Amino acid sequence: MNRMMELRARWTLVTGASSGLGQEMARSIARDQGGNVLVVARRRDRLESLCEELRSRYGVQAACIVADLSRPEDVERVFTEATREREVHGVILNAGVTYWGEALKLDWSAFQAMLDTNVTSMVRLSTLFARHFVEHGTRGGLMLISSVAGFIPVPYQAAYSGTKAFITSYGQALAQEMRHKGVSVTVFAPGGISTELLEKAGLSDRFKAGDLGVMSAQECAAHALRAFIHRKELSVPGLLNQTLTLAARLLPRGFMAQRTAAMYRPER
Ligand SMILES: NC(=O)c1ccc[n+]([C@@H]2O[C@H](COP(=O)([O-])OP(=O)(O)OC[C@H]3O[C@@H](n4cnc5c(N)ncnc54)[C@H](OP(=O)(O)O)[C@@H]3O)[C@@H](O)[C@H]2O)c1
Repeated sequence: MNRMMELRARWTLVTGASSGLGQEMARSIARDQGGNVLVVARRRDRLESLCEELRSRYGVQAACIVADLSRPEDVERVFTEATREREVHGVILNAGVTYWGEALKLDWSAFQAMLDTNVTSMVRLSTLFARHFVEHGTRGGLMLISSVAGFIPVPYQAAYSGTKAFITSYGQALAQEMRHKGVSVTVFAPGGISTELLEKAGLSDRFKAGDLGVMSAQECAAHALRAFIHRKELSVPGLLNQTLTLAARLLPRGFMAQRTAAMYRPER
């Protein structure tokens, strides 16, 4: 499968588009590709103002679905509503949450919400949409947003890095199953991005915009869209992140985890 994705005048669904990387990917699809966007997140006000901005500035169609992707019923509703009135051509599963701290202090309900959002909703939506594309003969594409943390065991983000390891492995395997069915699956694995995610986790002092290896959401979105449109199966943006993932493949995982612990230890 080597034909590029054409997003112009077609619908792409983007989850987690109320801030950060998702919001910038939605903007880029509208501004740079002339594509229509269907944005998903919990914060209605943010989604509605984004849709208004994209319609008025770029003349595309934009709509939103307010949903909590940690809830199975909302995940099913996203698929039903997305496919009821329109032909979706691209699906970018980006919504995610993290935490920073000792694994023993991670609240159990927070862990379950993270697992449901970062893993379960991505598996459910990717299979629903992939099956839909195959049944309708849509040569569409899916992109799953993982992380460099999916290649390296990250102490003090132990469960989060586990969710991303799952998504990288799952996405790359799914890509092989789908490649002969005309549907591409891209795993996009960025490193640090200056977004609300780092602020909410309390990590924004350690990883700041402008620091080596920390990208702006806009720069990262440009990399992500390029990978999606070119139907790459795995994409890691930036030289530093690529070097880190190469090191993670070549060096013992225990050594990588030990080095990473020094960067993330709370009482550094
Ligand atoms: N920032 C980084 O350093 C970094 C690095 C590597 C990978 N990533 C990954 O990149 C993706 C985007 O993260 P970001 O940095 O852009 O973070 P962000 O600015 O915090 O955005 C996260 C998005 O996910 C949505 N979301 C969270 N929980 C949700 C839920 N239960 N249901 C529906 N939507 C939900 C949020 O919207 P609402 O709150 O409105 O629901 C928001 O739009 C994530 O998968 C993250 O793991 C981030």
